[in-house]
Amino acid sequence: MSAHQDLIDRDRKVTFHASTHLRDFAHGDAPGRVISGGQGIRIVDKEGREFIDGFAGLYCVNIGYGRTEMAEAIYKQALELSYYHTYVGTTNEPLVELSEKIIKLAGMGMSKVYYGMSGSDANETQLKIVRYYNNVLGRPQKKKVISRNRGYHGSGIASGSLTGLAAFHDHFDLPIETIRHTEAPYYYRRSDDQANMSEREFAQDCARKLEEMILAEGPDTVAAFIGEPVLGTGGIVPPPEGYWEAIQQVLAKYDVLLIADEVVCGFGRIGTDFGSHFYGMKPDLITVAKGLTSAYQPLSGVIVGDKVWRVLEQGTGEYGPIGHGWTYSGHPLGAAAALANLAIIEREGLTQNAAETGAYLQQQMQATFAEHPLVGDVRGVGLLASLEFSADKRRREHFDPALKVGPRISAAALEENLIARAMPHGDILGFAPPLVVSRDEVDDIVARAKRAVDRVTDELVRSGDFKA
Ligand SMILES: Cc1ncc(COP(=O)(O)O)c(C=O)c1O
Repeated sequence: MSAHQDLIDRDRKVTFHASTHLRDFAHGDAPGRVISGGQGIRIVDKEGREFIDGFAGLYCVNIGYGRTEMAEAIYKQALELSYYHTYVGTTNEPLVELSEKIIKLAGMGMSKVYYGMSGSDANETQLKIVRYYNNVLGRPQKKKVISRNRGYHGSGIASGSLTGLAAFHDHFDLPIETIRHTEAPYYYRRSDDQANMSEREFAQDCARKLEEMILAEGPDTVAAFIGEPVLGTGGIVPPPEGYWEAIQQVLAKYDVLLIADEVVCGFGRIGTDFGSHFYGMKPDLITVAKGLTSAYQPLSGVIVGDKVWRVLEQGTGEYGPIGHGWTYSGHPLGAAAALANLAIIEREGLTQNAAETGAYLQQQMQATFAEHPLVGDVRGVGLLASLEFSADKRRREHFDPALKVGPRISAAALEENLIARAMPHGDILGFAPPLVVSRDEVDDIVARAKRAVDRVTDELVRSGDFKA
């Protein structure tokens, strides 16, 4: 038996994997893979097979794999100070530098950073901040948080409640009571009565629905709105034209805080430092993770704007030290990794590359797939892109989910040694390559994806499930 197979067999017996069919995996009916290395935009498995990672892990390895400089920064920090907590005003040197850097990059009136280890825990912190904020302001009834259908904000009890995908709620008794979900800014999947709307009209319609929800709930009960600048896991959907402007007008009218979940967009992915910069958002609070360290260490952050910070200060003046803290908040290894990562992004102009090579990616995706019979929608921004497959392009019809068109195309891409992610809801193939990707590599990704889409199209035609 190969070393690769041996590891998979042992793994099946002892590891509880994320987002996995647990029974099939445990009983050998679903495949496993051992990843053993990576360089640039490529990873390699234990058998030596190399893949282009067209999704940068989980859209997080933004500077690419195998950066010696990152390993050295983490090693150096581990030798110097591997850990100390950040409770009661204690800090460490890389952390101070990192907070200064993040506040400067963000701008937008941001004031302080609270650190965690994952996007999910950062959004838990967001919800606690929002509650505390309104309690200090003497508005204990103002606690509800509105998220969007198809939004993704994590998979904890609170963060999973914010997520607007049924698979993260069903059988977990979620969402929790104070969370609501409003219309997804998903123009392609607009309803029949929205069919004749322009993008701008549709954006206005989303804002109108948000306002209706706030009024129905009672504005004095709605504390915050959370959204990703670009819907990510829900389908990689850039917002329709004018969306954030329209949404922010409603939020301002009812004194509702805006939380920008920048876990995917933050630190360059769509060609600006933050997605909020790209779309003219003025958030009160920002969530970051993934691209902050390019996943070389687990690190997340909640960036708190001035307006909220002042109230938090006032609160501790009244109630004493804030009752919130993780053991690993502000971990020095995470901070050292983040600093080294941000230095690489800056030095190599990776945000600019996301804008330029991203524009090329969008162009090539359109040129290759816009007229493809199986592809209903080609969309994206910067180095985020997706293809949505449709049983009837003109009528935007869904395939029977039992056909598993998205996962089959993702599997066909894997046969081409390309990782492109079957997004969890709908027949959507996602792309988010590392920000170091070159034009030639974009050509390679698109060519491999085309062969995969063509192959599954042929299969569907042969089985009578699709008419090209
Ligand atoms: C926008 C967004 N927020 C939050 C999260 C949760 O982050 P984590 O998986 O690190 O908990 C994710 C993860 O994909 C995300 O995409």
